[in-house]
Amino acid sequence: MDTCTENLNTVVVWDPYVRIFHWGLVASIAVAAITGFLLGPYWIPVHVVGASLALGLILLRIIWGFSGGTYARFSSFVMGPLRVLGYLGDVLTGRETRYIGHNPLGGLMVLALLAVVIMLGFSGAAVLGASSKAGPLAFAIPYKDSGWLREIHETLALGLMLLIALHIAGVVFESRRQRENLARSMVTGIKERRDGDVISVPRAGLVSQSIRIGAIWLGGAVLIAGLSFLPVPRPPVAEYDPLVAEECSACHMLYHPSLLPAKDWEHITATLADHYGEDASLDDESTAKIRDWLMANAAETADTRAANVFQLNPAGGIKSLTDTAFWRARHRGLSDAIFKSKAVRARSNCVACHEDAESGWFNPFQVEIP
Ligand code: HEC
Ligand code: HEC
Repeated sequence: MDTCTENLNTVVVWDPYVRIFHWGLVASIAVAAITGFLLGPYWIPVHVVGASLALGLILLRIIWGFSGGTYARFSSFVMGPLRVLGYLGDVLTGRETRYIGHNPLGGLMVLALLAVVIMLGFSGAAVLGASSKAGPLAFAIPYKDSGWLREIHETLALGLMLLIALHIAGVVFESRRQRENLARSMVTGIKERRDGDVISVPRAGLVSQSIRIGAIWLGGAVLIAGLSFLPVPRPPVAEYDPLVAEECSACHMLYHPSLLPAKDWEHITATLADHYGEDASLDDESTAKIRDWLMANAAETADTRAANVFQLNPAGGIKSLTDTAFWRARHRGLSDAIFKSKAVRARSNCVACHEDAESGWFNPFQVEIP
């Protein structure tokens, strides 16, 4: 490892894994930041992929921090507060020593960056779980908590941007002071050896160490794969009453009762004789049964996003789901031509794009425009 490729004047400081981790993290965080800050909700799936890659890299980096090469180990760069403050004092007075690995301030930055990205991952999963009922926390957090969770996630994201700016400023400052290109060392892995450097001692036991790393990585891979293949539970929604399924799907897709509050179903079932310009009336007994079932399973009983954003107001001109402010805002990016296409036919034909529409879930990962 390290020692094989060193010569008298240079040291391989950053092993290949540390370098791949560093630039992989730059790329995945860039994807998450651009989709999160600049692009709209259509990009949530890409955002989640970028964030998951970043978290996966960090998980492996933490394992590597305990079992990797000399300068990759936390023990070589995590230092107590006194040493960090002492080093800061030396920097301010221009007397600092050169560390061949991370200096104490750089080490602190590594920890801060790892911690903030991990917190972003947890808060992001919480937002996704609360608002879209998707991801690992889907059924742990109620929809009503999505607002403040989103604020925490956004604040952390701004904090990360600030840390990244500080990190780059630190690298530029240190590169100038030491007259070396630190960004290039993170590509090549190599740094020049100089008198007075603080050098860490390589650790022995290469074989047993490799076996341990292999075991931990394999365990991690099996765990991640296992978690990804777990079946996703369905939202707790009622099974369709056969009468409703039959009568209410004659002219259009089945609208799940959780899409509208009980008062809207009461209105819709009371006005079936003039139902969006059609006569959808039924005998009194069937109408009463359908009304009771729709009202008993209305939006008030579900915890999905779709159960929290739609409400009609016929007097105010909001006669259908597609008239609501939420629907318009969320589907603004789609052209008229898409809705008029043969495969979609109408805005109200949700199931053409939302595979899970009839379940009432409307998971953002189940959207596909035909
Ligand atoms: C005779 C045909 C017909 C039958 C039967 C029918 N509907 Fe409709 N329904 C329509 C039409 C037409 C529309 C308007 C579609 C549009 O907006 O594109 C509509 C719209 C709706 C909407 C609003 C959709 C939106 O985009 O917001 C709901 C909710 C609805 N129907 C519920 C029901 C229920 C519940 C039943 C069963 C009692 C039912 N419908 C039976 C014809 C029918
Ligand atoms: C032409 C395709 C299309 C049709 C038809 C359509 N949608 Fe959508 N819908 C989308 C797209 C694309 C998105 C954005 C996906 C995202 O937010 O990640 C979306 C987003 C949503 C969301 C937000 C999901 C989330 O949690 O982020 C809801 C809720 C939703 N649609 C409800 C409806 C309802 C109700 C209907 C029918 C009345 C409907 N949509 C019809 C394409 C469609």
